[in-house]
Amino acid sequence: MSETLVETPRELDEAVRRSDEHALRYRGDFPILDRRIHGKPLVYLDNSATSQKPRVVLDALDDYYTRLNANVHRGLHTLSEEATNAYEGARERVARFINAPARNLVFVRNTTEGINLVATAWGRKNVRAGDEIVLSVMEHHSNIVPWQMLAKETGAVIRYFDIRDDGSLDMEQADRLISEKTRIVALAHMSNVLGTVNPIDDIVTRARQASALVFLDAAQSVPHMPVDVQRLDCDFFAFSGHKMCGPTGIGGLYGREELLEAMDPYMGGGSMIDEVRLDGFTCADIPEKFEAGTPNIAHAIVFGDVVDYLEAVGMEQIHTHERALTDYMVGRLEEIDGLTVYGHAPGRGGAVSFNLEDMHPSDLSTVLDRQGVAIRAGHHCAQPLMRRLGTPYGATARASVYFYNTSEEIDVMIAAIHKARNLFRA
Ligand SMILES: Cc1ncc(COP(=O)(O)O)c(C=O)c1O
Repeated sequence: MSETLVETPRELDEAVRRSDEHALRYRGDFPILDRRIHGKPLVYLDNSATSQKPRVVLDALDDYYTRLNANVHRGLHTLSEEATNAYEGARERVARFINAPARNLVFVRNTTEGINLVATAWGRKNVRAGDEIVLSVMEHHSNIVPWQMLAKETGAVIRYFDIRDDGSLDMEQADRLISEKTRIVALAHMSNVLGTVNPIDDIVTRARQASALVFLDAAQSVPHMPVDVQRLDCDFFAFSGHKMCGPTGIGGLYGREELLEAMDPYMGGGSMIDEVRLDGFTCADIPEKFEAGTPNIAHAIVFGDVVDYLEAVGMEQIHTHERALTDYMVGRLEEIDGLTVYGHAPGRGGAVSFNLEDMHPSDLSTVLDRQGVAIRAGHHCAQPLMRRLGTPYGATARASVYFYNTSEEIDVMIAAIHKARNLFRA
């Protein structure tokens, strides 16, 4: 994937035209995009928070409960066997999507649960007082708090990468931060605030030299670009279905085989055991060891349909589409007098944070909502990054695109921002 998508305004126009064509091919798949908000057509630009769902996903959910509903791994009756096959089949499809073996993919509720699982089940066994955990100031709270909890429990120390002015990770700090004391480096693959895509190859190389593990918070990357966990060569990798056209409450955690096998279970209960006696238990094999209780069967099965849908749209095409639209959006935002965009790292993704003069981002978002435009305002679960950026009110507005967004929608947002400014200046 090249860092520079376009060199000239003409090339950008052409790339945006192609991306609009791509969006128009798929927009009709998403019934919610026909909604009107306050009498205006919905312009949905809050995709980093959660994505919209195509008809195939809605139908697949309906189909599961209409035709297939039964508990998995337990019954010998036909329905249970069919549900189990569909559940395990979905695991294979989702695992293939990130190029992982199916047994290395644990179904979790979301990225947050994946991180907590590893911080607890791997962390308690492997992290001791004085050991170091390396994060960055751009992390989502989900990739900070679980490690802080682990550090508090074990006496480990957390170190943080800073960022450069363009929002990229300051790799010059790597030699100082990653040492033989480091047990794990846990980083966002893509930032939900700055859109920065972190240099994972470099990070993995440095971590390996120090015999440290690498955890990738892939909540923002998996929906938007082709990923391959074996090529990335990371040790753990977590992502959320709801950000990639899937339902809420289902996500994936990939772990390297020998690590998952050596870890204790995260939760105890049914399905995660091999045998239970009054004086103890033995664990099931991976990945069941980490899936205690009745899982989110319906949404796991639908997750399989989600990745099939995304593969049909084409992950490479999604990435190219969003790169063009993001370049277009950043360019148009920066034409607005007094508007600051945060994050200009080369190859950045489509989560774009900004502030307009001293207007509170919540006010901006409210005015945009009246025009049918859904963006996000707040700290985006990244308070340390807000402090580092010195954002007014500890918050920003954020517009984030997906493959069904068009340049026309960006234009509607830009017009609404002008309107907001005129309103507040009046
Ligand atoms: C970078 C990043 N990590 C983690 C998360 C947490 O995802 P979830 O709430 O689905 O667990 C998000 C959600 O916005 C995110 O953007």
